[in-house]
Amino acid sequence: MSSSNFLEHRGFLMPSKYYDKDKLEYICNEFQVRDHDAFSITYPKSGTTWMQEILTLIQSDGDTTISHTVPNWERVPWLEPTLFSTNLESLPSPRFMSSHLPVHLFPKSFFTSKAKVIYTVRNPRDVLVSLHYFSKTAGFLDELDNIEELLPKFLKGEVLGGSWFDHVRGWLGVKDQVNLLIVTYEELLQDLRGSVVRICNFLGKELNEAAIDSVVENVSFKNMKDNKMSNYSTFPKDILDIQKSPFIRKGISGEWKNHFTPAMSESFDAAYKEAMNDINFKFIWDQC
Ligand code: A3P
Repeated sequence: MSSSNFLEHRGFLMPSKYYDKDKLEYICNEFQVRDHDAFSITYPKSGTTWMQEILTLIQSDGDTTISHTVPNWERVPWLEPTLFSTNLESLPSPRFMSSHLPVHLFPKSFFTSKAKVIYTVRNPRDVLVSLHYFSKTAGFLDELDNIEELLPKFLKGEVLGGSWFDHVRGWLGVKDQVNLLIVTYEELLQDLRGSVVRICNFLGKELNEAAIDSVVENVSFKNMKDNKMSNYSTFPKDILDIQKSPFIRKGISGEWKNHFTPAMSESFDAAYKEAMNDINFKFIWDQC
């Protein structure tokens, strides 16, 4: 994954084709967050598309009309890339939006608003594996790296999204000051229904049992993989080519165990421990 493909802006690394500094500065300094906004924020490859689907279906009370007719990037539109043309300012409230921004680049107006953030986090070892496969799908990433070569770059933050550690530490650092719900990819896998209910409660959205059933059914791995409006099959192939590697690919936790050698595991654990030992927060993957 060559760093020449990236725009680096205050520690945030993104494809230079689809991001620019002026827009990032505009979003940070001028974008007006509204009290009824809700954001899905992720480090890349952590369950962004999954959360977009969950939010779409919660917003529509489990009705699938929108999730089956409108592509996911329009349903929960992106805040910061230049790639998409949705005019966020013209959207009616409540707006649901997606972002990969680290906390220090997030709109300043958010921090004085009542808006909500759902921060989806995934075991970084699986993020790394997912990113490796994604580099085959994404025309804007070099796919030269094998996972072993990608690992030190990931640990140094020289990959799509910049440093996982900084991203997660940054958002955890404000969790008690803003309206923030932390959801892990792993808990979505373990207890999807319970997670959907938790997200509904956080958003103040009351869904009846049938609507919750519909959300859970329609955001399953299989249904999303088959849904053309969620699987990126309609996206321009020069940007994402799902024939090379599917976007909705494997959808499991712990895949890293099949890819990490003991030495890779050891170096990852050491870096993780050093970066995360003072965060005072335990993730599911920290318990074992
Ligand atoms: P894998 O590559 O490990 O399969 P993002 O949307 O942030 O780019 O994350 C993509 C990852 O989320 C991919 O992981 C993809 O398969 C997984 N994913 C998407 N929808 C999912 C679902 N319904 N259930 C489980 N995993 C899902």
